[in-house]
This record gives sequence, C-alpha cells and structure tokens, in this order.
Amino acid sequence: MRSVALVTGAGRGLGRVLATFLAGQGHDLVISARTDTELEEVARSLRSTGAKVAAFPGNITDPGHRTRLLQETSAMGGVSLLVNNASDLGETPRPDLAQASLELFRTTLETNLVAPLALIQEALPQLERTRGLIVNITATLVKPVTKDGESTGPAKPPSTSSPKRSPSNSNHRASL
Ligand SMILES: NC(=O)c1ccc[n+]([C@@H]2O[C@H](COP(=O)([O-])OP(=O)(O)OC[C@H]3O[C@@H](n4cnc5c(N)ncnc54)[C@H](OP(=O)(O)O)[C@@H]3O)[C@@H](O)[C@H]2O)c1
Repeated sequence: MRSVALVTGAGRGLGRVLATFLAGQGHDLVISARTDTELEEVARSLRSTGAKVAAFPGNITDPGHRTRLLQETSAMGGVSLLVNNASDLGETPRPDLAQASLELFRTTLETNLVAPLALIQEALPQLERTRGLIVNITATLVKPVTKDGESTGPAKPPSTSSPKRSPSNSNHRASL
C-alpha cells in the first residue's frame, strides 16, 4: 500500500511544491486550502503523476474541516506524513504590537499555532499506527529557544522542523 501524506496549504507556494514532490515519491495525498479553484488545479496536476489525491477546500482553523481531512486519510489507510504548512502572515507591513489588530492577531495564532497542534493531536492515533512523521513549516519570525526558555540565537531563515518519531520528545519549542 502507498503511504499517505496530508499537506495543508497545498493550493500554491511551498505547499504545492511539497505535494508535487511527495506525489513524485510515491505518496498518495490529502490536500487542503481555502481557495477551491487553486486546490482543484493542484489535485489535477498531482493525479497526472498516478497518485491518488483527495482535495478538500476549507479553513484549517475549522475543527470540522480538520476532522474531514483525517477521516479521509484514515479511509486511505492512515496518514504517515503530516505537513502543517498553511499559515497566515498576519498584518503586512507588520505594525507595532501597540497598534496591532487583536482580531487579526488571534487569526494568525489560530492558523499558525492552534490549528497545527489540533491537527497533530487528532492525527496521533493514525501516526502511531503508521509510525508516521510530522513536519511543521515555520516562519522567519520564529526563533528557537531551549526547553529552559533561553534563546539559541537570532531568528533563522524558514526551515522545516526536524521530523521526530515521538512529538513529545522535542527539546525545543517556538517563541514568537
Ligand atoms: N514564502 C516565504 O518567503 C516564506 C518565508 C518564511 C516561511 N514561510 C512559510 O512557508 C509556508 C508556506 O509559505 P508560502 O509562501 O508557500 O505561502 P503561500 O504561497 O501564501 O501559500 C499558503 C497556502 O496556505 C493556504 N492557507 C492559508 N491560510 C489557510 C487557512 N486558514 N486554512 C487553510 N489553508 C490556508 C493558502 O491557500 P488559501 O489562501 O486559499 O487558503 C495557500 O495554499 C508557511 O508556513 C510560511 O510561514 C514562507
């Protein structure tokens, strides 16, 4: 059976590139983003590689949408790679925090922090069965800190976090 990858924010940009790469590596895919026209176009392109692809338009902050994605990965055999890629860049240009819109700040936190964690929590039973991996894509404004809260240096360019067999054994956490 082919392994199943779930990629959020796969309608364009890095998510689309990752989904295309994974299809080329023999993964079947469940993909998500809000803009259904973009998502369908990506799905068509991925299917042309022979991959089985399920595309679900929706907002990753919506619990019902997340559950739908994972119901589909389960029906396809269980997710073995979860890529949390969808993100909200927030206000641009970035305002001083004193002037920031709290509504937009909440949306950014919900999209970039709460939703990926919720998806991880809900995907864990499948990931444990498949001995799967989680990849969280982060942004330049995040800097790594040790588990004691000390900064390990300045913010670094965008990177994927190290895939870990157990999501609970990380020595690092992100700070804004
Ligand atoms: N591009 C850069 O220079 C850069 C730099 C540092 C880090 N990154 C990180 O790399 C990742 C991808 O960036 P990118 O530049 O490829 O972004 P992008 O081109 O803006 O694509 C983001 C994707 O996520 C989807 N998305 C956004 N909000 C969503 C939501 N609430 N629910 C579901 N889907 C959502 C978007 O589709 P819809 O809008 O249709 O939903 C789109 O498909 C992000 O995590 C970003 O923080 C990028």
